[in-house]
Amino acid sequence: MAKRLLTTLNLSYSEAWGLLFRAAEIKNANYTSDLLAGKTIVMIFEKASTRTRVSFEIAVNQMGGKTLLMTRHDSQLGRHEPIADTARVLSRYADGLIVRTYAHSTLDFLAAYSDIPVINALSDDFHPCQILSDMLTITERTPDLEKVRIAWVGDGNNVAHSLMQAAIYFPFELFMTFPKGYEPNTDIIGNCLSLGAKIYMTYDPEEGVEDAHYVYTDVWASMGQEDEQEKRAEIFAPYQVNEELLAGAHPDCKVMHCLPAHRGEEITDEVIEGPRSIVWDQAENRLHMQKAILEWVYGNHDYHQYTVTTKHGKHQAFPHAPF
Ligand code: CP
Ligand code: NVA
Repeated sequence: MAKRLLTTLNLSYSEAWGLLFRAAEIKNANYTSDLLAGKTIVMIFEKASTRTRVSFEIAVNQMGGKTLLMTRHDSQLGRHEPIADTARVLSRYADGLIVRTYAHSTLDFLAAYSDIPVINALSDDFHPCQILSDMLTITERTPDLEKVRIAWVGDGNNVAHSLMQAAIYFPFELFMTFPKGYEPNTDIIGNCLSLGAKIYMTYDPEEGVEDAHYVYTDVWASMGQEDEQEKRAEIFAPYQVNEELLAGAHPDCKVMHCLPAHRGEEITDEVIEGPRSIVWDQAENRLHMQKAILEWVYGNHDYHQYTVTTKHGKHQAFPHAPF
């Protein structure tokens, strides 16, 4: 069956860790590849994108492949051709789909009705490629994730859901902080907790960021929620990531944002431009991780080869992979 990356849960434990190791290798080597030579990947983008679209297009290009962009405006998608029909047709032309959409079910349909790889480039519910590259940004600074505390401050949205799923695979502590009524999806919370994620939840931003090594925020109104912008701005105001809030975080705390950012709303100009901000490294790492993801989809990289060195010597990186 064709590979799918609809949520992080499509990865095995070893593959999720392996993607981090591999993306770091790709970043630090003079990486060249012709893995995608002769392949054309259709990019269906129903929402705007700078980082995800451009990094995927450049990654595909640098790996020898070609991309073709399809939006609602210039295809029959905007004229209500069923997703299932689109999936079956594109399957016969292309070698893969990279899809940014609204309802996550659109991705499920595309995957169900096509027999080519499908990658989620953001849906209303998940943003797996973002969070995988964010894990690279974090491990570059703090490789021992057992000792890492991450605080999410803001909406319980797509990026938040993928971060929670990452906590299933990686042993950091995650403090989720959001206003009442803007909690993450309860089924997703339950699923992550039952699979071993160390997730704690609070409505109190000060409690949420206490001693955090990383504070992560995102827009208060995601794409598709523009009508709620004003109402949300009022409700989320106490959740702004500013110097005052960060005073309670770990002294070396770094600040993360998937971008695009709304300065003066979820994050202050001072913080995003300040020394704690690692948002540009996050954005850069998208490109390296997209290449690693494309290799996972189209290659046969061995993700069990990686080793870690502890005080007891060198070990296979995942000696006790739970799944
Ligand atoms: N972070 C992110 O996905 O950015 P874009 O919306 O620009 O792709
Ligand atoms: N939560 C944001 C992320 C953008 C990358 C959105 O969905 O608009």
